[in-house]
Amino acid sequence: MQVGMIGLGRMGMNMARRLLGGGHGVAAFNRTPQKTKELEAEGGRGAYSLDELRDLLIPPRVIWLMLPAGETVDAHLEELRALLSEGDMIVDGANSDYRDTVRRAKGLAGAGLLFLDAGVSGGIWGLSQGYCLMVGGPEDAFRVVEPAFKTLAPPEGYMYCGPSGAGHFTKMIHNGIEYGLMQAYGEGLALLKASPYGRRMDLAQLAHVWNRGSVVRSWLLELAEAAFTKDPDLTGLGAYVEDSGEGRWTVREAVDLGVSAPVITMSLMERFRSREKNSFSDRVLAALRREFGGHAVSDAEEK
Ligand SMILES: NC(=O)c1ccc[n+]([C@@H]2O[C@H](COP(=O)([O-])OP(=O)(O)OC[C@H]3O[C@@H](n4cnc5c(N)ncnc54)[C@H](OP(=O)(O)O)[C@@H]3O)[C@@H](O)[C@H]2O)c1
Repeated sequence: MQVGMIGLGRMGMNMARRLLGGGHGVAAFNRTPQKTKELEAEGGRGAYSLDELRDLLIPPRVIWLMLPAGETVDAHLEELRALLSEGDMIVDGANSDYRDTVRRAKGLAGAGLLFLDAGVSGGIWGLSQGYCLMVGGPEDAFRVVEPAFKTLAPPEGYMYCGPSGAGHFTKMIHNGIEYGLMQAYGEGLALLKASPYGRRMDLAQLAHVWNRGSVVRSWLLELAEAAFTKDPDLTGLGAYVEDSGEGRWTVREAVDLGVSAPVITMSLMERFRSREKNSFSDRVLAALRREFGGHAVSDAEEK
């Protein structure tokens, strides 16, 4: 089938490549034209405006957005709404908030456009391993785009999750789980490293061994092995962990649904914690201990 890809970043470029490798036609637009040229050299058709992209595709068109979630997606949808024809389909592969997705689907339906939300997991390894896809939206549109999903995913690696928002909701929960898993690995390995046993242990080897039949084996542990092989004590990294929204949305959802999710919530808080240097809350604690018990405190410079 023919797919129009908008956004040739770390994800979109490799997804376009995987589609080309699977025998699909890919037309692509990217803000920075150099990347479009790169894809042209690999067999894609380059568009240097959204009008051009529309003209390269035969209706009913399938256009896949692989852009940062939020305003960028909204801005592109607004433009596409004016350019596309009834029956054309748009897939949003960003990590979008499912509530935005529901709103966007309604708006686009008013113009006769079908909107699918595809939660994508696989990162930079997706090109070779395939991308796990969680898809929501009108089921008839899902069936039309299914050949592309099939190519992008590893065998049995995609799923129709339900109506608009279901794909992004499922991806949000997926990422919430990822927060908890990563936190548990981090804490366990930190405990090990603090112990006399773990201090000199080869953690790359340990991650490798844990991936041979243990209950905690996982792809994250394979990545841990790769990271420890490059830098056994991770001394080249700052202890600062970003978050990109899905963890916050998962916690918000836990609150809205009244469902207890302490591991995911604490994992998110720990990421915030990682960014605090000389935190005010710690200074309040030290101040209170000094006030009530005359306990020793360190000087500001020693922190
Ligand atoms: N990286 C991952 O592991 C991963 C996994 C699953 C899902 N996702 C999601 O996939 C989406 C893309 O992620 P990525 O990792 O590919 O990001 P990325 O490497 O930063 O690429 C972003 C893409 O969006 C374009 N872009 C950014 N701002 C734009 C704007 N204002 N107007 C037009 N184009 C703009 C960039 O164009 P330029 O080339 O001109 O900068 C680039 O093509 C995100 O929603 C992300 O959450 C990422």
